[in-house]
Amino acid sequence: MEILAQITTHSTEETEHFARTFAAQLHGGETLLLQGPLGAGKTHFVKGLAVGLGISDVVTSPTFALHNEYVGRLALNHFDFYRVDSAEEVEMLGLHELFCLPNAVSAIEWSDNVAELLPRNCTQVRIDVLGDLVRRITVQR
Ligand SMILES: Nc1ncnc2c1ncn2[C@@H]1O[C@H](COP(=O)(O)OP(=O)(O)OP(=O)(O)O)[C@@H](O)[C@H]1O
Ligand SMILES: [Mg+2]
Repeated sequence: MEILAQITTHSTEETEHFARTFAAQLHGGETLLLQGPLGAGKTHFVKGLAVGLGISDVVTSPTFALHNEYVGRLALNHFDFYRVDSAEEVEMLGLHELFCLPNAVSAIEWSDNVAELLPRNCTQVRIDVLGDLVRRITVQR
């Protein structure tokens, strides 16, 4: 895999700003796998992504709903599969069909729980926790 971007952030604002800038290069059809531990900043990254896609709704964690959809310049399908026990659960709901729609960007938290349903050529956004307020974000494909 190739590293496309890497940054160290020192606040949620910096993480959101990076994601907002990153959104400018998205054309639709991208599947972003947000990786990192609980509280890494995955949802904050998606908040910034939404702003960058021209979405005015406030992004909230879809932990209970599994999926939230927002519409801006492109649609944003935000998934959180933390609570999913098997990929079949997601497959039965048909959510995997939303993973790479041409006019949408998918951002998936805890994608390892649905590994067998993921499309090829996903972009990985890995967030490492370096300190209380410090995160290293690595974008790879
Ligand atoms: N540089 C930073 N970037 C992003 N979040 C940060 C940063 N520094 C501290 N934080 C804190 O880390 C937490 C990130 O929360 P967030 O909900 O985005 O994490 P998450 O990775 O989505 O977790 P979960 O797996 O529970 O969904 C927040 O409490 C936020 O204030
Ligand atoms: Mg989250």
